[in-house]
Formats: sequence, structure tokens, C-alpha cells
Amino acid sequence: MSSGHKKLETNISLMAVFIIIAISLGGLVEIVPLIFMDQVRKPAEGVVPYPALELAGRDVFVHEGCYNCHSQMIRPFRSETERYGPYSVAGESVYDRPFQWGSKRTGPDLARVGGRYSDEWHYIHLTNPRDVVPESNMPNYGWLKERMVDGEIVQKKMRALNSLGDPYSEEDIAAAPSVVEGKNEMDAVIAYLQSLGHARSGR
Ligand code: HEC
Repeated sequence: MSSGHKKLETNISLMAVFIIIAISLGGLVEIVPLIFMDQVRKPAEGVVPYPALELAGRDVFVHEGCYNCHSQMIRPFRSETERYGPYSVAGESVYDRPFQWGSKRTGPDLARVGGRYSDEWHYIHLTNPRDVVPESNMPNYGWLKERMVDGEIVQKKMRALNSLGDPYSEEDIAAAPSVVEGKNEMDAVIAYLQSLGHARSGR
């Protein structure tokens, strides 16, 4: 063994420094190209920022932890695409902060659930899943009907997302409180579910 190598292998501090350098370089090689790749940065065709009600519904999905049982990422395998539809691409998630890809599937993937059921089905299902799927172990979410969507918060969120580069127009932002007026969190999460996956499933 050369004496340089011996020094490195027997000196833990020196070793730590080299490990940090190696990991940082590896990380940069993985991350930096993504910052410049259009395939990852640019929205896929037909993908637009979430309208006010869908945006509020996305927050319900996140704060209720729906992602603990549902992924939103169809993998490029035949068993997946035959069940759920075309596999997911990065450009579909550019307006998702944070993304909801997930990996836990107690329930089915929801990446292309939009349009698969009627709004009425979702109301019944969210209120008591066993009314439509007797063997379901999904929790009841009936109380979402009692929680109203706060238009001012939605508006502030749209403004914040706009400053991060999501192309909301001034009109969209100004209209947000009136769009969600009188809507509850159940309406919002259903609007969100119905918006999922249209861009590539052709629905
Ligand atoms: C404890 C796990 C669990 C949680 C949490 C959960 N679900 Fe489910 N979900 C399931 C299971 C299991 C199914 C399949 C049986 C059924 O349809 O009820 C399902 C089915 C669904 C379906 C129908 C999907 C399809 O393609 O048939 C939708 C939509 C759905 N869930 C939405 C939600 C939403 C929205 C939330 C959060 C408010 C949520 N789920 C939270 C377990 C869960």
C-alpha cells in the first residue's frame, strides 16, 4: 500500500473529509443536470397550474395524509399501465410542491383517477368508502363537508406560487376567493381528484 493511501485509511478525520468530497461530487453529478433538463423542468403538454379549488383540494389531500395509502406515480411496467393508464412522466409534476408520488399503496394509485368516477361517487366514497366498495379499509372523511375552504388563504398561496414561477394570471388570483366561495373541503378534494392525470390519459 502506498504511504499516501495508508495515511488516508488510518486517519479518520482525513477519511471523513474525502468521504464528504466524494458524496458531494456524486450528488452534484446527479442533481445539476436535472436543473437544466427541459424534460424535468417544463410542464408536459396540457399540464397547467392547479385552479383555485383544485389547489385547495390538493392541500386537503396533503394535510389528511392521503399519500400514506395512495401513490401518484404509475411506473413504466405493463402490469401498471394496463391497470392505471399511461405511465407518469416528470413534466406532469412540475406544479406539485411537494410532489405526491409516494410509494405506499394500501389503496390504488391515483395518478389517473380523474374522470374515472362521477363526483357523486366520490362524495359517497369519501363519506363512507364501504357504501361503494364493501371490502374497503379506507377511513371515512365525511367531516370534510363541514370545513369550508378559506378563499383568502387560497389567494395567498396562488400569489406565493406565482412568485416561484407558476404562471397564474392576475385575474386567476383576483378571482380565487369568489371561485371557492361556499365550497367545503370535500368539494375541493373531489375537484382535485377529478383533475388528476388528464394530460396524458386523454380523458
Ligand atoms: C388507510 C389507508 C387509506 C387512506 C388514509 C386513504 N385511502 Fe383512499 N383508498 C384506500 C383503499 C384500501 C382503497 C381501495 C378500496 C376503495 O375503493 O375504497 C382506496 C380507494 C380510494 C379511491 C378510489 C380509487 C380507485 O381507483 O378506485 C379514491 C379516489 C381514494 N381512495 C381517495 C382517497 C383520499 C382523497 C384520501 C384522503 C382524504 C384517501 N383516499 C385516504 C385506502 C386509503
